[in-house]
Amino acid sequence: MADLAAIIDDIAAEMADAPDRGTVASYIPPLAAVDPRRFGIAVVTADGRECIAGDGDMAFSIQSVSKVFALTLALGAVGDQLWRRVGVEPSGSAFNSVVQLESEHGIPRNPFINAGAIVVTDILLGHHEPREAIGEMLRFVRMLAGDDAIYIDEAVARAEQDTGFRNMALANYMRSFGNLDQAAERVLGVYFHHCALAMSCRQLARAGRFLMAGGRNPDTGHNIVSARRARRINALMLTCGHYDGSGEFAFRVGMAGKSGVGGGILAVVPGIASIAVWSPGLNERGNSQLGTLALERLVQRTGWSIFDPRVF
Ligand code: DON
Repeated sequence: MADLAAIIDDIAAEMADAPDRGTVASYIPPLAAVDPRRFGIAVVTADGRECIAGDGDMAFSIQSVSKVFALTLALGAVGDQLWRRVGVEPSGSAFNSVVQLESEHGIPRNPFINAGAIVVTDILLGHHEPREAIGEMLRFVRMLAGDDAIYIDEAVARAEQDTGFRNMALANYMRSFGNLDQAAERVLGVYFHHCALAMSCRQLARAGRFLMAGGRNPDTGHNIVSARRARRINALMLTCGHYDGSGEFAFRVGMAGKSGVGGGILAVVPGIASIAVWSPGLNERGNSQLGTLALERLVQRTGWSIFDPRVF
């Protein structure tokens, strides 16, 4: 394999010139205002190397990528009981779909569609005040990334609140089935704030290291989660992390991956690397167009698909 830094630089240069950049999310003004020419990538390897290119140090709205960290924290709070309230199957539906909830009695298919992440956030909230739960999430990702500069973009959180009618519908609908303990407004206040976490690719790739390292935080050597739990979170990222585009992501890239509507993707190759890419233009399924292409090229040049025997 060629030098990793050179590969990352080449991919960033190719993405800078890519003609088809997808469409930037426009449902809230702060996301619609992001420059579609942006592209960033960061790779952190199991042996501690860090390679950054393009806009890899520019903060962006991580949006649904935060669902990975929310799930990790909620599992820490209630353990496997969480799976009584949220499924582990791909939905094959859009991230904000309502259709399956009626026939499945208010139990969301998985923790990465909006409905699932709203239940996870209800669990996180537990007996806390919303601001305490938001603070806990922020402290958690800062600790994982080893970087206290990570922040929540209040303008994004407010804009989500102003337009979050469908999320409100999902939350209230699940409450009608008894699968939401707290008032929809309280839960969504926390949900919108964790979606509004602003992080760079470098910070996001660092925050994903525990999933690459069998649940261990490489900074401290302490376990964030057990190896079994890390495996399960990675499995859910592979099967459900890109909504109705999860099959295509596994087919083209073959990493555990979680996308967000801000154009970020966190991708994990256990034992090998934690990778973050960001480009705000989205494909028709709401996943980063160039982020996916960049990961596909990275796999071609490194063999880092989890299905590639060269990795193991
Ligand atoms: O709930 C929402 O609509 C957003 N805050 C997050 C959605 C998201 O990132 C979906 N991902 N592609």
